Amino acid sequence: MPPPARPAALLLPCLLAAAVPAAGGGSARFWHLTDLHWDPGYEAAAAAGRPCPSGGGRAARAGPWGSHACDAPWSLLRSAARAMRGRLPAPHFVLWTGDDTPHVPNEQLGEEKVLHIIANLTSLIKETFPGTKVYAAMGNHDFHPKNQFPGKEHRIYNQTAELWRPWLNDASLPLFRTGAFYSEKLPGPGMRGRMVVLNTNLYYDQNDETAGEEDPGGQFQWLEETLTNASRDNEMVYIVGHVPPGFFEKKRGKAWFRRGFNERYLAIVQKHHGVIAAQFFGHHHTDSFRMFYSHTGTPINVMFLAPGVTPWKTTLPGVSNGANNPAIRVISYDQDTLQVLDMVTYYLNLTRANMMASPWQEEFPEWEEEYRLTEAFQVPDGSARSMQTVLERISRDPHYLQLYYEFNSARYDLEPCQQECRVDHLCAIREVDFIKYDECVKTNSSASAASSAWLLVFCMFLGFLSPQPVL
Ligand SMILES: *[C@@H]1O[C@H](CO)[C@@H](O)[C@H](O)[C@H]1NC(C)=O
Ligand SMILES: *[C@@H]1O[C@H](CO)[C@@H](O)[C@H](O)[C@H]1NC(C)=O
Ligand SMILES: *[C@@H]1O[C@H](CO)[C@@H](O)[C@H](O)[C@H]1NC(C)=O
Ligand SMILES: *[C@@H]1O[C@H](CO)[C@@H](O)[C@H](O)[C@H]1NC(C)=O
Ligand SMILES: [Zn+2]
Ligand SMILES: [Zn+2]
Repeated sequence: MPPPARPAALLLPCLLAAAVPAAGGGSARFWHLTDLHWDPGYEAAAAAGRPCPSGGGRAARAGPWGSHACDAPWSLLRSAARAMRGRLPAPHFVLWTGDDTPHVPNEQLGEEKVLHIIANLTSLIKETFPGTKVYAAMGNHDFHPKNQFPGKEHRIYNQTAELWRPWLNDASLPLFRTGAFYSEKLPGPGMRGRMVVLNTNLYYDQNDETAGEEDPGGQFQWLEETLTNASRDNEMVYIVGHVPPGFFEKKRGKAWFRRGFNERYLAIVQKHHGVIAAQFFGHHHTDSFRMFYSHTGTPINVMFLAPGVTPWKTTLPGVSNGANNPAIRVISYDQDTLQVLDMVTYYLNLTRANMMASPWQEEFPEWEEEYRLTEAFQVPDGSARSMQTVLERISRDPHYLQLYYEFNSARYDLEPCQQECRVDHLCAIREVDFIKYDECVKTNSSASAASSAWLLVFCMFLGFLSPQPVL
């Protein structure tokens, strides 16, 4: 009997499935650490009974491992390094997304001091992972005066390039000297992965050097070209940086990028999402993520925001209880596709560590496993699709929202996240775009939502309005 004719429509998916290469690379793991913010004056102040320099005058008991009001003492950084060696001593590579200096006024720093701090932390990471490739990005505090990064060559770029020379390819050096961004193929033969390290401090609204420029340092044009080339060469990339686009989830309406820069960044991700496997940023000191969508609303990319090592309570007005526990994270990924497979975050319960021992006894406190992404949120991996599922879970289920919220500060703030808190976090995760974020907050704010709900339904019924996504 002749086989039944197969409709052509069925053939195409089968051909596509056959064309997908067998998982070749296998999985590997890397560390992401960010926002170490070393406070070199911590110990002396503590010994003299004075508040730490980075505490901004907020009196706090200076514990042996740090304080939630302060940046990191050396003991905390050593302990983090030790915890990383204990948990995963030989990662495939390390991402280090910047902010090394303490939160003190510019007058208490200076170019030499900033460079000295960067040099010291560079040595710490080198000693922790000898011979390991480190992709380092500059944070807005890794400059003097802070935030004032120019889109052209600068002595601090030159000096930092020298410090990071052992980690940089020769081709990256000249680029770094003129703008502190670069891109390199991932280590290992036959790898089709590429790391793109950006200097998004150029887009920070506190940066007066680049205000009014269209494309500071030519970084946007370079990024587009790099992504176009990656697509041509069948590569997949990770984008890495410090200051992220979009909004701070702990303060309503707080964005970091200037408006035009935010738009351009978003447009580039939308255009080139096919080659961007994921994005990794810092700066918030909190653990969160950002979704990117196509014009039709399909989730196309995700940015992971890693929690900081410093426990420092933010001084941003309007943020309540904005400290965190020190945290570090391991990401596992597919070496061929760069797909994020899982993510494990480790944290130090600073309160407990300070109660238990003293660093002079060389008894290091334990950095515990906080959570594993796939287990905590019941998703198969860390793809954009899975992270959309995570977002839907935390939008719909208060249990998942609270779980996310406790991870957000590495279990420092265990208060319930309700009404306003919920809207702030969900809108920040969902909308990187300025206009859409405002709409999201407006649509979901309790007062206006209640009063306009009926009108909205009526207008939708008449076909005047398309529904806004309701969280
Ligand atoms: C970094 O600073 C710490 C604390 O002052 C010191 O123990 C260490 O030797 C310094 N490392 C380097 C390479 O300067
Ligand atoms: C940076 O280094 C390059 C190469 O060594 C040198 O030509 C340039 O003058 C330096 N620029 C500054 C601003 O120091
Ligand atoms: C893109 O590829 C072209 C051709 O190989 C090369 O000349 C150019 O420098 C590449 N651009 C970037 C930003 O790497
Ligand atoms: C951290 O330790 C303190 C002191 O032991 C304890 O009260 C608190 O519940 C701990 N936090 C977490 C998240 O376990
Ligand atoms: Zn920071
Ligand atoms: Zn920062």
